[in-house]
Amino acid sequence: AITGLHAREILDSRGNPTVEVECTLMSGMVARAAVPSGASTGSREAVELRDGDKTRFRGKGVTHAVANVNGEIAAALMGSDVRQQAVIDHTMIALDGTANKGRLGANALLGVSLAVARAAAMHSGLALFQYLGGPGATRLPVPHMNILNGGVHAHWQGADFQEFMIAPFGASNFHQALEWGSEIYQTLRDLLEDKQLSVGVGDEGGFAPHVSSNEEPFELITQAIQQAGLRPGTDVGIACDPASSEFFKDGHYRLRREGRVLTAIEMVDYWDKLAQHYPLVLLEDGMAQDDWEGWKLLNQRLGSRIELVGDDIFCTNPEIIARGIKENIANAVLIKLNQIGTLTETIAATRLARNHGWGAFVSHRSGETVDSFIADMTVALDSGHLKTGAPARGERVEKYNQLLRIEEQLGNAASYAGASAYVRPPV
Ligand code: PGA
Repeated sequence: AITGLHAREILDSRGNPTVEVECTLMSGMVARAAVPSGASTGSREAVELRDGDKTRFRGKGVTHAVANVNGEIAAALMGSDVRQQAVIDHTMIALDGTANKGRLGANALLGVSLAVARAAAMHSGLALFQYLGGPGATRLPVPHMNILNGGVHAHWQGADFQEFMIAPFGASNFHQALEWGSEIYQTLRDLLEDKQLSVGVGDEGGFAPHVSSNEEPFELITQAIQQAGLRPGTDVGIACDPASSEFFKDGHYRLRREGRVLTAIEMVDYWDKLAQHYPLVLLEDGMAQDDWEGWKLLNQRLGSRIELVGDDIFCTNPEIIARGIKENIANAVLIKLNQIGTLTETIAATRLARNHGWGAFVSHRSGETVDSFIADMTVALDSGHLKTGAPARGERVEKYNQLLRIEEQLGNAASYAGASAYVRPPV
């Protein structure tokens, strides 16, 4: 039974406050979890409660969310059986009483939800991935490593598109995939240096060079894959998250790096062209969150060939995902715990997608901590692929390193998702 819940304010990878929660059990066991935070957020995400007091952390303090855990939530959950995850999450949802978790804060609820799950795993004597996924949780995901950052994550100093990722789906196992990713990352650094482009990094650890077009990163990454001795499209694919809601204004896609303004159909043409020239295996948020018609066009054009993931448009929200499935606007969803605010609802969103033949792509946030919960969760939900930044910087590599530990623990029982990770397998 839960005998204590204690939250505190800590810093995330961008130096902003976030919530950390400790859950104590009768046995004296203590489990801890921390909450991430986004920058390019969907408009329908659950509410991250910030104090707004400009005298502390420029208004970004989370002392109210912390107080809500230590007060109301702790009081409601004291004595609960820690293994009753769904009951605990629904108790918090009812206690909050709003549709968007705006009263107590999704950051308060999520910290508790994750700390409770970790405590339950400890109590059961199981690794987190085994507690959450059971004996069938043996498949390691394809890591999508974000090696070149743009958009808001690079403060608009580089490409308009936010994330350029490498996906070593042709590796034999997870540790080889990570090794390839690291080698390509280091090779890309050399390439950028040769071209006298900056090797400073963005929020997710990828380089953030001042490129001259949004196509140039695809070219640079393809070269880096080859120079690392690997085959683009066979060993390693490319994935892109342009976060296009960030440059969609008044019904148009505004590419400042290229000085061009595109209609939805022109944006779809651009994606089609890039997909023909480069080994694009996955495109996330190719269209903006408010452009449902554009999404339909994109899915009609490319949905049979590549995985089209919706992030800002769905916000890991089962109700919106259900509408997306009905209207056939994509073929996969991005899964971010803090967009919806509890583990139980995150599992529901993932199930809904997969039960309809859609993919579920697990994701970190641009503001992270060293908490590696999503690594275990990806294996438990058997989602087959995740993105958690560059193969560099502590808060990013901790997730990849946790997957190395899981693979080692599984030994011969471990398998690697490879091309089968995708709802539209590349080969
Ligand atoms: P965000 O970006 O956390 O700033 O929304 C996350 C992502 O999609 O990587």
